[in-house]
Amino acid sequence: MQNLFFNTFFKLLITFIYRSKKNHHVIFLFLWLIRYQKSMKQKILITGGTGYIGSHTVVELINEGFEPIVVDNLSNSSADVLDNIEKITGTKPVFEQFDLTDKAKLDAFFEKYTNIKAIIHFAASKAVGESVEKPLLYYRNNLVSLMNLIDCQLKYGVSNIVFSSSCTVYGQPDVLPVTEKTSRKDAESPYANTKRVNEDILHDAIHANPQLNGISLRYFNPIGAHPSALIGELPLGVPQNLVPFITQTAAGLRGELKVFGNDYDTPDGSAIRDYINVVDLAKAHVVAIKRMLNGQSKANYEIFNLGTGNGYSVLEIVKGFEKATGVKLNYKIVDRRAGDIEKIWADTTYANNELGWKAEATLEETLLSAWKWEKNLRNIL
Ligand code: UD1
Repeated sequence: MQNLFFNTFFKLLITFIYRSKKNHHVIFLFLWLIRYQKSMKQKILITGGTGYIGSHTVVELINEGFEPIVVDNLSNSSADVLDNIEKITGTKPVFEQFDLTDKAKLDAFFEKYTNIKAIIHFAASKAVGESVEKPLLYYRNNLVSLMNLIDCQLKYGVSNIVFSSSCTVYGQPDVLPVTEKTSRKDAESPYANTKRVNEDILHDAIHANPQLNGISLRYFNPIGAHPSALIGELPLGVPQNLVPFITQTAAGLRGELKVFGNDYDTPDGSAIRDYINVVDLAKAHVVAIKRMLNGQSKANYEIFNLGTGNGYSVLEIVKGFEKATGVKLNYKIVDRRAGDIEKIWADTTYANNELGWKAEATLEETLLSAWKWEKNLRNIL
């Protein structure tokens, strides 16, 4: 849309200058130069770009005129996602498959793709339970990947990075809602600890190298799918997270949903989270990138909470899904899940005011989008 407006305006301006016949050659050339510069898309490296949040962010970056370059080892995603991104945007992003812990491959990548303006670092192992069983895998994957990227930023002169962090760094907060100033708690799992330590690595690396500029985005609970139902969350095996479990139960893949605990100190006894639409979340990444590229950051390292500011209980999500979709869910209350916190939701004031961004989708729209995606996957009409 912006491009269409720009191009039309541009053509009118050039016609006007040409007809006025005053120094039109020089002005003509000057304007074409500006246009050429504008048409040069800014390259953004997206690690984990075929994953759930990564793929939605790639779509939003393309929509906003950027050139995303996707790197993924496909350990938890498929290259087919790139075809679906093309169906949505008309552009198939450039893709390189390798593991970020392989420093030689990462070096070769930066030798090949010069002039990268920024990195959005999604790639990470993210299953809480698995991280408890395989802590070294988690520490190696998640910490070494970020350190390799920062090394390359310094070596190849890429100043800007956005890091996928999580509200998991707050643990169970003493005061709700949580602001960016709420102190972090000891991590409950190796996965959570990798988020915490990666934030520290980024903070310290930026402190030591002021030419770097970073933003950590602390996601609350991302759910839903692109409205086209062409991309969404694709859990391998039995889903660990609530909404994919709900949609798979509704689709008949799972017999029943287990609601983990109804004896929490919450109005209906089930645990409360801040569920944010994945497209809203993706858009916040574009805003963060523009903030850094336009020199609008207030500090070299910044942190933002990305949530809606609203907390919903597990049972409210179940009821909300049934109401939005008209599908009855088979569920039963079971014991609490080990390691779960009782309740958390975001104070989004700082992100809303500073980034000029706000989560917009309603819970109903978001749950419907998750259901549309599941139905599309399973060929349910
Ligand atoms: C977890 C991670 C978080 C990560 C998020 C998204 C921790 C402690 N949490 O959040 O960092 O960002 O996943 O990947 O590290 N529930 C059920 N039945 C189910 C599944 C879930 O009742 O079958 C409940 C849970 O007990 C919880 C809520 O639903 O109360 C949300 O769970 P889930 O979707 O797994 O996300 P979190 O555990 O909040």
